[in-house]
Formats: sequence, structure tokens, C-alpha cells
Amino acid sequence: MSRIAYVNGQYVPHAHAQVHIEDRGYQFSDGVYEVCEVHDGHLVDEPRHMARLSRSLGELRIREPMSSKALGHVLRETVRRNRVRNGLVYLQVSRGVAKRDHPFPKGDVEPAVVVTARSIDPKKTAKSAENGISVITVPENRWERVDIKSVSLLPNVLARQAAEDAGASEAWFVDADGFVTEGSATNAWIVDQDGRLITRPAEFGILRGITRSVIVDLAAREGVEIVERPFTVEEAKKAREAFVTSATKLVTPVVKVDDSVIGNGKPGSISSNLRALFYSQAELSS
Ligand code: PDD
Repeated sequence: MSRIAYVNGQYVPHAHAQVHIEDRGYQFSDGVYEVCEVHDGHLVDEPRHMARLSRSLGELRIREPMSSKALGHVLRETVRRNRVRNGLVYLQVSRGVAKRDHPFPKGDVEPAVVVTARSIDPKKTAKSAENGISVITVPENRWERVDIKSVSLLPNVLARQAAEDAGASEAWFVDADGFVTEGSATNAWIVDQDGRLITRPAEFGILRGITRSVIVDLAAREGVEIVERPFTVEEAKKAREAFVTSATKLVTPVVKVDDSVIGNGKPGSISSNLRALFYSQAELSS
């Protein structure tokens, strides 16, 4: 079956989908994005993703391309046309097309909107959660505004490649004081010896992950204590459990940080339990 992409108002064959060479997303990374999971044909936590998209657009002073409702329709239609039951839908909004010049273009330039969707085999993600993943640590070298979900992801790309080169699945950025900020495409968590969840506060310096926020709610519901504070790499290496969260990885246990095995080297019970309960807390919409 051929894949379909949404590009600026039209559904086109994925293989022929194109954006203009002077799209500011292409030339300046001047754009934002969202990745929303599709689970059993439902969008997962759509309102939270839409709210974060609006915030990212607002922080960069990019006009909303259309209402959240209309965007929701495009997401669903793209999912439907690609027959995705389990997978993800990707949405990107750039400041639009204009002659290459650093300041914002003058006049009313239309933001450019691209949406794609693809299937992911749930068995594959389940397998990685069953085995747990390894992470490496890399120095934090990103700009301060990583709270904005911008498409400017070069440090993340390099960090993730470093992880691949080391045979690991994710890289955790570590700030100048030795504290873990977040992963290249995930939020980072540990479980201390008393069974408390520790994760960095999401004010600044990390992306306020939607999955993270659902886990915060789920933990509160289940009576699992959460402490929102930064943790060091050394603490992570001695933690009872560690895990990462994102729309595509949900809750994925971490069993190794650099050369240190976490706990007994198997996914911990708290992480696995949070993963198992995730959809009972997430908001599914069709
Ligand atoms: N990444 N931190 C970073 C840097 C991320 O890129 C992501 C998501 C997260 C987790 O956020 P959420 O729970 O809302 O997915 C944290 C997406 C999945 C990506 O870039 O593909």
C-alpha cells in the first residue's frame, strides 16, 4: 500500500511529497513539531499534544496554521489514509516559505504544514521494553530553549548516533554540574532505593514530555511517590531502576547506563508496572 502525506492542504503520495527549497524549516530549522502515538486506531493524548504545539508556536511567534480541531482532523485523516492502527503521526509546522533572510519574513506568510503517519509493530516495542535498553551519557550541548519542541535537533541527532555507535539505544544529556537533563528523544527517570520516582523538573532545560506528564498523573493515582528534582549520573548508576518515556517508547526500562548495570540488569517492577498501566491513564481519542 502506498503511503500518503499531508502537505500544505493536500494529501499526496509520500514518495512525491515536497516542500519548497526556501521553506524556513529547511533553511533555518525555523519550525516546530509533534509526535503523537497511534494506539489501536486511537490518537494518544491529542489535547496535550495540541496544547504543547500551540505553546511551541507561540514561543517562536509562528502563526497557528489552523484551529486545533482542523489539525486534529488532518492528523486523523492522515492516519486513516495510511491505515495505521499502531504507530505514530508526525506533524511539522514551519514559519513558511520566504526569500532566505534571517529576520522573520514581512507580511502574512502562510506557515507550512506537513503530516505523515507510519505503522510501528507493537511487538518490537514490547520486546525492547521486556529486555530493557542501554543508554550512554553525553555532555549537554543544546541551546537553552529545549522546552520548545523545535525541529532544530542536530545535537539530538549526534547524541543518538553516538548511542548507536556504542551499541546503545539512547543517549542522556548531562549538564555541567553532572546532572542528567533528558535523552535525545525521551525524558529520563530513575527509581531510588525507597521506590520513589525521580525526574528532572520540566520548567526549563528539558522538553515537557506528554508521556512524562501522564506518568506523573498515573503515579499520583497509584500512590507512587514522585520527586521532581535533577539526578546525577552517579545516582542513576546506583538506582534501583531507570527508565525513559516518550510517545513512541512509552515507558521503556533502562538496564545499563554507560558501563554500569542498573539493579539486577533486568527491567524493574515499578517501570514495568507503569508501562502496563499507561493506557489506563492516557487519553485515547478516535
Ligand atoms: N521525542 N525529550 C525530547 C528531547 C524529545 O524529543 C521527546 C519526544 C521527549 C518525550 O516527549 P513526549 O513524551 O511528549 O513524546 C522528551 C519525539 C518522540 C521524537 O522526537 O520523535
